[in-house]
Amino acid sequence: MPTKKSTKNKEEKSTPAKSQKPMESTEDDVDEKEKKVKGAPTLLRGFRDILPEEQGRWNMIRDAIRDIAEAYTFDRIDLPILERSDLFLRTIGKGTDIVDKEMYVFTDPSNRSVALRPEATASAARAYVNHGMLDRPQPVKLWYMGPMFRHDRPQAGRYRQFYQAGFESFGVDEPIVDAQLIVLGLQILKDLGLDVKVQINSIGTFECRQAYLAELVAYFRQHRSKLCEEDKKRLQKNPLRLLDSKDPATVELLDGAPQILDWLDDKSKEHFMKVLEFMEEIEVPFELNPYLVRGLDYYTHTVFEFVLAGGDGEKSQNALGGGGRYDGLVELLGGRPTPACGFALGIERIARALLDAGIDPPQRPQPAVFFAQLGDASRRVGLKLFEEFRQAGIPMAEAFGKNALKGQLEAANKLGVQLTLILGQKEVLDETIIIRDMESGAQEIVDVKKVVALVQKKLHSDEGVAPNTQAPISDIK
Ligand code: HAM
Repeated sequence: MPTKKSTKNKEEKSTPAKSQKPMESTEDDVDEKEKKVKGAPTLLRGFRDILPEEQGRWNMIRDAIRDIAEAYTFDRIDLPILERSDLFLRTIGKGTDIVDKEMYVFTDPSNRSVALRPEATASAARAYVNHGMLDRPQPVKLWYMGPMFRHDRPQAGRYRQFYQAGFESFGVDEPIVDAQLIVLGLQILKDLGLDVKVQINSIGTFECRQAYLAELVAYFRQHRSKLCEEDKKRLQKNPLRLLDSKDPATVELLDGAPQILDWLDDKSKEHFMKVLEFMEEIEVPFELNPYLVRGLDYYTHTVFEFVLAGGDGEKSQNALGGGGRYDGLVELLGGRPTPACGFALGIERIARALLDAGIDPPQRPQPAVFFAQLGDASRRVGLKLFEEFRQAGIPMAEAFGKNALKGQLEAANKLGVQLTLILGQKEVLDETIIIRDMESGAQEIVDVKKVVALVQKKLHSDEGVAPNTQAPISDIK
């Protein structure tokens, strides 16, 4: 279980999460966290190393995701990081920020246009079609975890390489699938100790959206002069995105704008009502957000985002995850018409939320045994012993870099181990080893072949080491 503390980890405090200000710098500038060392290569902007000290928190997130995936019988799929750029153009859609501005597209040595994946739903749908998963029992439930790439402006919670864990369910159009996916996402975040809610909306089918879009465009055209340049472009290219504009003038205009829920056809309305009923039934904390449209073209019907319960859900970089139904995607990629629904969580954003909430990963269990060696012959025996202890499930610490016994015992003390095994030259010749109880200081010499079994017994009993000290430490050379 994660532990909750009010203090924050020193190492991660400096992540640029508090400042919402974009990092102003040149293309190859270093990440805020990275120290500049003269002459050393620097990270690309928006890219970061996930350091060993962050791995505890990341592992906690990865474990929670894996546990839920297994509990809900999703099958893992690993998808390529590089795909034909056409896959994303066709699915995420021209006119979206991701495709128009954020894709890492380049020509590979075979002269093909390829892209670093900006997301993985399109790849999962491609894999579903490519591998004939349409003919497997439905739903086909897949999950994945890995890096995504978007060349957006880096800022707090927004990176150019970031990690997502995604869940996709293909083949069933029942509203319960949408509800279950939402529950599943919320459950991961709750299991981690976060207080979260879901924002939800329906954007209906492609058909009913066309009628709505015509109305929306007509409304905003009347107020075109009040729009900022970016939103004028959106009005022309992707008017639905005006709904989640952050520009104050557009936000004000939205009050009088037509709402998509009023334009849903009967089937879309019924689908959405059922999703909401399921959520009410199981008391999922949700909020209707008529302006939630998401930034990818493939969505139909239900769309949703996970946000912190007390957070500012208005800021898109605050979403811990998001998803929705995409009933047209498989067909768009050449498969049979196949309903589908899914979501993805942003791992960096979850890690940040855990840090801000003072939720620390559980401590890694420390080894209970230390191996102290004196000389190369003893190091050689040590290498073998390490493997024997590992196979017996007893992790062992060492300080192979240190020569003097004193230094090694200090290291063992610092680690707080229960037992230290001491192997001097004499013991190597005699095929024995000393077991020292660190608390009492008592030592005994035992047959090296029996040491694993003996240590195992001592660790599982309260006896410790027999008090008859046989070789004082100072005698060992
Ligand atoms: P998305 O909303 O673009 O959806 O991304 C999902 C989550 O990834 C976001 O809520 C956020 O937590 C994280 N994320 C997105 N961009 C960045 C970034 N630049 N830096 C850090 N984190 C980021 C999708 O990608 C869809 N494929 C989700 C989906 C799955 N829909 C259906 N199935």
